[in-house]
Amino acid sequence: MKKKLFLIWREEKKLCVREEDAMPRRPILAANWKMNLTSNQSKLLVDSILNNLGAPVNCEIILFPSFLHIPMIAEKIAGKNIGIGGQNLYFEEKGAYTGEIAAFQLVDSGCTHVLIGHSERRHYFHENYETVNKKVLRALSAGLKVMLCVGESLEERENNVTEMVVVDQIESAMQNISHKDMNDISIAYEPIWAIGTGRIATPDDAAHVHQIIRKALGRIFDKEIASKICILYGGSVKPDNIKEVMAEEDIDGVLVGGASLKTDSLLELMRFLN
Ligand code: PGA
Repeated sequence: MKKKLFLIWREEKKLCVREEDAMPRRPILAANWKMNLTSNQSKLLVDSILNNLGAPVNCEIILFPSFLHIPMIAEKIAGKNIGIGGQNLYFEEKGAYTGEIAAFQLVDSGCTHVLIGHSERRHYFHENYETVNKKVLRALSAGLKVMLCVGESLEERENNVTEMVVVDQIESAMQNISHKDMNDISIAYEPIWAIGTGRIATPDDAAHVHQIIRKALGRIFDKEIASKICILYGGSVKPDNIKEVMAEEDIDGVLVGGASLKTDSLLELMRFLN
């Protein structure tokens, strides 16, 4: 069945189709450049996307560059059907919060999206359930689309609490989120032990967690929302493993770090999805 759906997706509309209700979900490729690249390197990477790929048609591409490079990139990709987002924001509206970036400033710089709750933020910067939820609410109220990241640590996986951890992260982040807000949210499942390590969750393991997330969203909201939402996989995705990752019915896209920093691998990933 998986294979059949994959062929439908590749050969016909290039859409992920869910067997149960045939709800189409447009594949997403999100490039998380983290704290890498000079302004010129970012510019060259964007130029190579535009020169080789033009405007994507069959998939959604979202770039998450350094805050400093957002205005320059936003200008380059204007009208090209490519999204751009901040890697973080602060949950207060504005004011005396030295060093922080506000949601309205991201919008003002040209952002359409924001990443929230990346495991590196949760781990190194002590973001917790409450701050992640506040950030989601702030982003939505400013008109940004949210890519919410969730995922378990190696220790949690070894202790067999992956499902509990991920569902807790989802439930806490969704506090006070309306059904309508869910049109502007996607989820990225990133097992922490697979990020930047070269280790990748087996597609079956990742798909299992994606199903758990979809079920949790069905419980919190409803079945339609659960079947419409895009759930991406992240963690050591590269050109040589994207095919097997995307073959899973419940995996609707990829959030890519390391492999999105080099022109060749980024273009290969994009060409595969587009
Ligand atoms: P990686 O990073 O592709 O380098 O593992 C993914 C991420 O953290 O978003």
